[in-house]
Amino acid sequence: MEENQTVKSLGNNKKCKQHAPNFVFCPQMDWKQFWDKQAAQAQPLEQVGRNGITAERMDALMQEQAARAAQLLHLHPQAKLLDVCCGNGVFSRCLLPHVGELVGVDLSPELIQKAQQQHTHHAQFFVADALHLSQWNAYQQHLGSFDAITLCFSFQYFDTFEKGTQVVEHLLPLLKPGGNILLTDIPDRARFFQHYNTLPKLAGLIIQMAKGKNVMGKFWAEEEMNLLCKQLGVQGEFLHQPNTYAYAHYRFDYLISKA
Ligand SMILES: C[S@@+](CC[C@H](N)C(=O)[O-])C[C@H]1O[C@@H](n2cnc3c(N)ncnc32)[C@H](O)[C@@H]1O
Repeated sequence: MEENQTVKSLGNNKKCKQHAPNFVFCPQMDWKQFWDKQAAQAQPLEQVGRNGITAERMDALMQEQAARAAQLLHLHPQAKLLDVCCGNGVFSRCLLPHVGELVGVDLSPELIQKAQQQHTHHAQFFVADALHLSQWNAYQQHLGSFDAITLCFSFQYFDTFEKGTQVVEHLLPLLKPGGNILLTDIPDRARFFQHYNTLPKLAGLIIQMAKGKNVMGKFWAEEEMNLLCKQLGVQGEFLHQPNTYAYAHYRFDYLISKA
């Protein structure tokens, strides 16, 4: 297939459908409402959907993931980091020891309120929609000022190719030249059935879809991520997670570098 045709078909999300069954769709979810409601859970890890393994194991895993992020993003004690979709800040706090300053933004006022309750002198948390980040009051003030950006365990909630592209497009001007964006834990369309690997899980998905919901958001294909970067004129790199990670069997990380 000609390159232009590939780009067009990926942009229209047609080719990507080859990686997942045709019946899987992403209804228009109200993610603000969903995460505001989730914030009422008692446990901080549950408030951001970090469940399925014990809290002790998740804490250890988050420390390991933060150390890996620090290495990939070349973080240092003076670095200024933007953590997009930070939720209640459970993972931001693991990143904090690796930087000098952290700014967290999230769509959910309920989760941001919880992040602010844990406020430290070198972390600040704000409500902002990553899809419309240029409307965030502090956007202009932070232009070109971040050494690195993280967007962890959340890219699936940008549930169309266009929304994913829009988010990255808004993030790039906030980075210093040579800065990087790390997207972690993206559900992989090529490994869809490694997540939905039991009848109860598949039945749960079908029941949700019958109700017009899909709380998992979008499973992204590697080719879509590469195309997104190509359209925005930046370098992108698909990263397999170490297989000791809890969700490594169906999620990947992706590193974007600004020239
Ligand atoms: C699974 S939680 C992950 C939180 C945190 N990054 C972590 O790793 O624990 C997903 C987060 O994405 C946020 N989110 C979803 N859509 C968003 C948007 N358009 N703008 C900003 N945040 C968004 C939700 O509010 C929620 O806090």
